[in-house]
Amino acid sequence: FLTILIGCQQQTYPTDNEQLSHEEQIVIRFSHVVGENTPKGMAAIKFAELIKERSNGHVEIQVFPNGVLYKDGEEMNALLRGDIQMIAPAISKITTFVPEWSVMDLPYAFKNAQEVHTYVESEVGQSLMKRLNKHNLISMGVWDSGFKQLSNSIRPIQNLTDLQGLRMRIMPSDILAEQFSIAGAYPRRIDFNTVFHQLQKGNVDGQENTLTNITSKNLHSLQDYLTISNHGYLGYLLLMNNEFWNSLPKNVQELLIDTLEEVQKWEWQQAENLSTERLQEMEACQCIQIHYLTEEEIEDWENAFKPVYDYYAENYGFKYIEALPKNQF
Ligand code: LMR
Repeated sequence: FLTILIGCQQQTYPTDNEQLSHEEQIVIRFSHVVGENTPKGMAAIKFAELIKERSNGHVEIQVFPNGVLYKDGEEMNALLRGDIQMIAPAISKITTFVPEWSVMDLPYAFKNAQEVHTYVESEVGQSLMKRLNKHNLISMGVWDSGFKQLSNSIRPIQNLTDLQGLRMRIMPSDILAEQFSIAGAYPRRIDFNTVFHQLQKGNVDGQENTLTNITSKNLHSLQDYLTISNHGYLGYLLLMNNEFWNSLPKNVQELLIDTLEEVQKWEWQQAENLSTERLQEMEACQCIQIHYLTEEEIEDWENAFKPVYDYYAENYGFKYIEALPKNQF
């Protein structure tokens, strides 16, 4: 792939769109790992369309979905090398660079997406954001996928002890590993785009993910049991290479910031709507046995997960957990 980045030197660009189009084109390659029928996939397309329209084609966002360009574990390095200019990895995947971000993986840390957004905007959330700068990264916002549910092919999961002995696919995050280890399960770090294959081969028994991710990859077709547990948040940071960002003309930066603010709101709504739709579809298909955790069961799970919070505090301190909506300490 040729990197076509022209006109990124610091220079004053005309604010008028008509004039913008006469300047050299700026290409931003945006790579992500999910399908186009997910909240992230849809928002990436919308973002590209709006930027194209608003810059008269002067700024082009090229979207590469489904990990076609770079897979999990590759896209971050590609961004840092400057081969691509934008990614939106799940926050759990950022924890290998900035482990403090794994506060977002703590089970039952947030009740809903609104709580997540408030946390991220808080002073503590912003200090987490700043930690990215050391790695030459800048975050342009947060997109939701939603809350994770559990699926597996062995048995219905109602109590946490039902997870005992199951091999569960996770994203690369120590907190997610701890969450399953505490339940007596065996966490397995697997790239998103190979989960279907690994489930099919029987290398793992189950997995946790949002319903939009599960259905977009047809994972439920390989699983017999689904537990609606809403036990953890899955969301994304929109990341750009800081150096690249600083090389962009001011008015292009403004256009990107304003458009992303608008797209972010739209994405949040899509994530909520799509999650509801997918659940209705799963209920209607009668293709998987669904258990909804009761309030009492959730309380039991929350208590059983307390050691995961201890693990976090021992490794990364109290600062980030103390600021959670429901302080577990
Ligand atoms: C996963 O690996 O399960 C997710 O991070 C995929 C995604 O980007 O939503």
